[in-house]
Amino acid sequence: MNTTGHEAAFPVARPRRLRRGPALRRLVAETRVAPENLVLPMFVKEGIPEPVAISSMPGQFQHTRDSLRRAAHEAAEAGVGGVMLFGIPARKDERGSAADDPHGIVQEALRDLAKDVGDALVVMADLCLCEYTSHGHCGPLEANGHVDNDLTLERYAAIAAAQAEAGAAVVAPSGMMDGQVAAIRAGLDRAGYAQVPILAYAAKYASSFYGPFREAAEGAPRFGDRSGYQQDPANVREALREVALDVAEGADMVMVKPGLAYLDIVAKVAETSPVPVSAYQVSGEYAMIEAAAERGWIDRERAILETLTSYRRAGAEQVLTYWATEAARLLR
Ligand code: PBG
Ligand code: ZN
Repeated sequence: MNTTGHEAAFPVARPRRLRRGPALRRLVAETRVAPENLVLPMFVKEGIPEPVAISSMPGQFQHTRDSLRRAAHEAAEAGVGGVMLFGIPARKDERGSAADDPHGIVQEALRDLAKDVGDALVVMADLCLCEYTSHGHCGPLEANGHVDNDLTLERYAAIAAAQAEAGAAVVAPSGMMDGQVAAIRAGLDRAGYAQVPILAYAAKYASSFYGPFREAAEGAPRFGDRSGYQQDPANVREALREVALDVAEGADMVMVKPGLAYLDIVAKVAETSPVPVSAYQVSGEYAMIEAAAERGWIDRERAILETLTSYRRAGAEQVLTYWATEAARLLR
């Protein structure tokens, strides 16, 4: 007889047995986050003498070429899997001419990083026009103010070739134009870069969580919003269609973005995608946790690691996160 008065211990199933102590919990953990799962998005700005702190993203900077190299070294040292580069040009125009200039800021920075850290991590280039156009939309406009889809495709193909020429190991189109992956694949192949993979921002939603990024990348639309090309947060089936189209067009990897509010999409895409799946922990997610932690309302490091674990649990192989270097250090 035991204290409950039953012959056998009751209850028989005791899930808490496997939670007794860190060693047991570690042994039975179903999900792991490793530094190599993490990709660090970085901003490099043309013509600034010193790095500029991004006020809505404490700890993040618009880098100079030099400070970018230092930060990339730190990421590599920490074991981070890759970096995703965003450029901010000194001059913008209607068609975003600086984006495919062989000596544009991203191209120069790609050359630096390919040489410095290209063997230690994957140097990726975000491929879009919103940081480069005077109006802040992701491609040149029609007279009616809509982005001209097919003209934009020609621009994207040219940018892809310029980025590959500068040493991008992966190009990552984020503009959500129809046919962009096929156009970029053709452009890369024509230019002799058949071996450069495409990471397609396949399911990218029109999200409020990009707010701080628009300060960081200086790419806010001057009028209107991006709902004419990015996805409606209400839709699931549409995301699966976007992924299927991008894979059919030759995407080597696909991304879901944002992450935390879209983990159902990450999970569905991860279940069905024939190619690796990334998810982007976007600027607004970063800002929310940083702000709450600053007020003492949340345990910052636990929140960071918990959210990264959630991304992995949902099925993402790679997580883009502004905490990549710090999290990699914590995980080691
Ligand atoms: C632009 C782009 C955006 C982000 C990545 N690429 C912003 C947008 O679409 O308006 C967001 C990243 C973030 O919020 O961290 N194509
Ligand atoms: Zn864009």
